[in-house]
Amino acid sequence: MKNLKVVILAAGQGTRMKSEVPKVLHKVLDKTMVGYVIEASEEAGAEEICLVVGHQSAMVKNTIKDMYDNISFAVQKEQLGTGHAVMQAGDFIKEGNILILCGDTPLITADTIGRLGDIHESSGNSVTVVSMIADDPTGYGRIIRENDAFCKIVEQKDANAEEQAVKEVNTGVYIFKAEALNAALKKLSNNNSQGEYYLTDTLEIIKQDGGKVGIMIADDEKEFMGVNSKLHLSQAIAAMRDRINTQLMTEGVTITDPANTYIGKDVKIGSDTIIYPGCMLEGKTEIGKSCIIGPNSRISSSHIDDCVTIQMSVLTDSKVKSFTTVGPFAYLRPNSSIGEHVRIGDFVEIKNSNIDDGTKVSHLTYVGDSDVGKCVNFGCGTVTVNYDGKTKNRCKIGDGAFIGCNSNLIAPVEIKERAYTAAGSTITKNVPEDSLAIARSRQENKEGWRKKVNK
Ligand code: UD1
Ligand code: CA
Repeated sequence: MKNLKVVILAAGQGTRMKSEVPKVLHKVLDKTMVGYVIEASEEAGAEEICLVVGHQSAMVKNTIKDMYDNISFAVQKEQLGTGHAVMQAGDFIKEGNILILCGDTPLITADTIGRLGDIHESSGNSVTVVSMIADDPTGYGRIIRENDAFCKIVEQKDANAEEQAVKEVNTGVYIFKAEALNAALKKLSNNNSQGEYYLTDTLEIIKQDGGKVGIMIADDEKEFMGVNSKLHLSQAIAAMRDRINTQLMTEGVTITDPANTYIGKDVKIGSDTIIYPGCMLEGKTEIGKSCIIGPNSRISSSHIDDCVTIQMSVLTDSKVKSFTTVGPFAYLRPNSSIGEHVRIGDFVEIKNSNIDDGTKVSHLTYVGDSDVGKCVNFGCGTVTVNYDGKTKNRCKIGDGAFIGCNSNLIAPVEIKERAYTAAGSTITKNVPEDSLAIARSRQENKEGWRKKVNK
């Protein structure tokens, strides 16, 4: 839809969340609720977005500004109702098509917004409201029709028994022609049971002023689910999880237990990759084809090539190339880059390091701030000692080097190509290529000692 401007209402306190965090910043999987609403608006072609903030406005503003460009903010100091909230958008709503969304309905889709735009435009409506038929309409504004056409919206608290029996309810999503909206907002009063300026009353005003009010009945009630409590939040997470997992399975990803697999909306996964239960895949993670992920792995903002196996491990901001295996119980911390055919085994931690092709770090090892070449073998229990209490220093390990078990490599230090370190060595000096470094005291055997001390 052309000239589409979106006002997202997000000033409310969300009392029922019982939380210090503003409601719209609570996360559904890896993304804030309002983030989904912003992205759906953008996908539907919104030209501009204005977020109406109020309760803990600074926190909401700062969080959203860091994540999304080109969002403007309007502040509603006192929460005097949804109509009052829209008024705060000021010049933003002066012209164009104004779509109103709520920041606490993360399941809304761009498709639905698009369909609403089409209906609104082709019918020449002054305003089009999205309704749904609710099994239990309690709490919602009821859509009251007269001869099938729109008459008014009555809020739960203002509804009489007959009105309360109506199952068609207001989802809180509308598109207005700017002129009609502004004219109606000027006439809005707070003469109702809650003493609030209801946005819903603008529709009746527009109708009385001769405007055309349309209704689009929603196909999928779930899309408009408003999150008001922690229970609702868990329901929204479950619905989003199912939606994302269904899409990935359609694209050829195997998810053995979708109810126990949590994958973010921006995660990309290639076909024939198998995701076992208990995985959380987050951020802009990309996983190639034919990988085996899980069970029980958490992968955030990482890039995994094809044919990689990751079991019971945690990866953050890392890269892993093809045919490499990670875990069980490995921890790849930010800025780790792992080559092809690498083995990162159990109880291995890698941080801010490059590990080149064919290298094996099989067990109980810490590699931090290091550059490791190709086909290096780490014995069990190696530690790169990268921190002297003040600064972090790097270790460099050349191609084909062999690090003996239980070596400490005190950075900055370089182990050159094909060099060996003897097991149990604490290496403080560079080791030239093809040589063996032994840095431990020589063994002494005291023969007959046991008998002499009468033990
Ligand atoms: C509103 C509708 C109701 C509809 C329901 C759908 C009105 C009067 N009623 O009711 O018809 O069925 O949504 O979910 O509009 N907000 C502000 N400032 C305010 C008040 C609210 O920004 O002063 C924001 C809230 O943060 C929230 C949204 O507006 O994101 C909706 O407000 P809420 O109080 O939840 O409205 P409902 O009573 O649910
Ligand atoms: Ca609500």
